[in-house]
Amino acid sequence: MKLAIDLGSSTTKIYCTNAGNGIVLVEPSCVATVDGEVRAVGKEAKNLIGKTTSQTQILFPVYEGRIVDGRLAAEMLKRFFQKVGLSGISLFRADIVFSVPCGINPLELSTYATLAEEVGLRKVRFVEAPYLSALGAYAVMEEGNPVFCIDVGGGVTNVAVLSLEGIIAGFSMNIGGNNVDAAIIDYMQSQKGLYIGSLTAERLKNEIGSLSPNARISAVAEGCSVSSSLPSSIGVQSLDITPCITAYIDKILEYSKLVLNKLPAEVAANVNQSGVFLSGGLMKLPYVREYIASKLDMRAQICEEPQFAVVRGGGALVRDKKMLEKIAKKLEE
Ligand SMILES: Nc1ncnc2c1ncn2[C@@H]1O[C@H](COP(=O)(O)OP(=O)(O)OP(=O)(O)O)[C@@H](O)[C@H]1O
Ligand SMILES: [Mg+2]
Repeated sequence: MKLAIDLGSSTTKIYCTNAGNGIVLVEPSCVATVDGEVRAVGKEAKNLIGKTTSQTQILFPVYEGRIVDGRLAAEMLKRFFQKVGLSGISLFRADIVFSVPCGINPLELSTYATLAEEVGLRKVRFVEAPYLSALGAYAVMEEGNPVFCIDVGGGVTNVAVLSLEGIIAGFSMNIGGNNVDAAIIDYMQSQKGLYIGSLTAERLKNEIGSLSPNARISAVAEGCSVSSSLPSSIGVQSLDITPCITAYIDKILEYSKLVLNKLPAEVAANVNQSGVFLSGGLMKLPYVREYIASKLDMRAQICEEPQFAVVRGGGALVRDKKMLEKIAKKLEE
């Protein structure tokens, strides 16, 4: 059995070769604890956000792309494995590709190694996320063919120009869907007089968020009135929240341009030809491809289900021994 694991800030995804190849688990990377004891994980835990009593804590053990609570991350992952019927010897024997942040340092890498050991994984290869998002976005990974990828997730954005020989230029920044959600909360409070929770903000972004100047969808936001403190609701239009999105996409593009500006001429020529490969959950926003293509003045492509690019790339890599050897070795050197 072969597995790929993407422990995202927002969502954990697991790919498995058992019974056909495919993604077997997609769950929020979220844990509910009562007095420090894990009570619920995944969807069940995330649903409790903002609705719990004071003894219950809702925690995200991966924050801005990095493991911030190893014990909880391990407990969460164990429960996810149980949920999809993976345990004991099958995990111990499985070949695994585990996604790690771009530019991870040895100390952070050891956090991932400890986590893997804790949950009973043995044959694990750690791979920096941009290789996986590139593969999952169907960029052609070859030597001498650099590709340009941007992955915008919940807590982190990875920007990289890379080929099979390595990452030529790249960085990650703590920007993602969570920032957009927070901006929507601020907007609703200051402009619409309604306090909303983060689940509501995320729902608004995902349901009516758009970068199309002609978007005309609307939704009803429910929360608590700023003036009366009573439960209340108000209509919101797509265009109302567009600035909450563009503020962050623009920042990402500004930094991406700094990377592009420093590319050697031949690499720039390649990138110019193939354009940018976009992935990550935020790339599900309507019209984001057109927006980015026009701002970067280059071709842009988004794969289907962009939020699964990293785990899909992991699935492809774990089945390709030769390529895996080449890519995983870079981190182990
Ligand atoms: N339809 C949608 N429109 C806009 N954003 C969406 C949509 N669906 C999901 N998202 C957002 O995408 C983000 C999650 O994306 P993804 O699964 O790629 O992140 P992650 O891998 O968990 O996090 P990270 O890579 O930052 O550690 C969340 O902010 C989520 O709200
Ligand atoms: Mg991710």
